[in-house]
Amino acid sequence: MNVAKENAALAALEFVEDGMTLGLGSGSTAEIFIEQLGEKVAGGLKVQGIPTSDRTAQCAIEAGVPLIEADKILSIDLTIDGADEVDPAFSLIKGGGACLLREKIIAHASAKMVVIIDATKMVENLGAFPLPIEVDPFGLTMTADKIYQALKGTGCREAQTVLRQKKDGSGPLVTDGGHWILDSKCEHIPSPVETARALSSIPGVMEHGLFIDLADTIIIGEVDHAKVME
Ligand code: 5RP
Repeated sequence: MNVAKENAALAALEFVEDGMTLGLGSGSTAEIFIEQLGEKVAGGLKVQGIPTSDRTAQCAIEAGVPLIEADKILSIDLTIDGADEVDPAFSLIKGGGACLLREKIIAHASAKMVVIIDATKMVENLGAFPLPIEVDPFGLTMTADKIYQALKGTGCREAQTVLRQKKDGSGPLVTDGGHWILDSKCEHIPSPVETARALSSIPGVMEHGLFIDLADTIIIGEVDHAKVME
């Protein structure tokens, strides 16, 4: 297990209170958190979780964390999720695990979002990690062209975009919501707010991986401790 991610996940447990409805993020760091949460539940903690992916749901079931369907609630007390990049303004790139649409729905409905990462994810500027963009397969070429223009128009000079493939090479990766993912390697996103706005205005874009003004707390795991930034 990655010790830095484990330390970040452990520190996040401090934010969990009895009776909370929790958004459960996706990815390896979130899964470590869910395993640790399961131990607390076994010890008597009462929470209910809303998973951000089918894989996270499975992980929560195996850990013994009770789940509630997203359709059955109006708001969430706390979401704990990982990220692919975090900048000093707490803007994030997410979606490396292709769960960004559900992750954003859950983060947006949450009173508080705690992001758990290892130190390699902290960056001065977003964009070295290819920006995941969840798109409807219909009209992909037109949507990809609009994305290219939106990225260029907001100062992303490189903007090379590829359609994410399944690991076995049998075709495009399909998200839990039935969409595809375009990964746009921007190198540098000079204005994440403007880029987010431009991408959101494209009809074929279901959601993009820029999470702006959603994260309240960042927990950076190191090998021997975790740093909490608020
Ligand atoms: C999934 C995500 C993940 O939170 C992100 O990719 C980080 O994953 P990991 O904790 O495995 O490094 O956004 O869509």
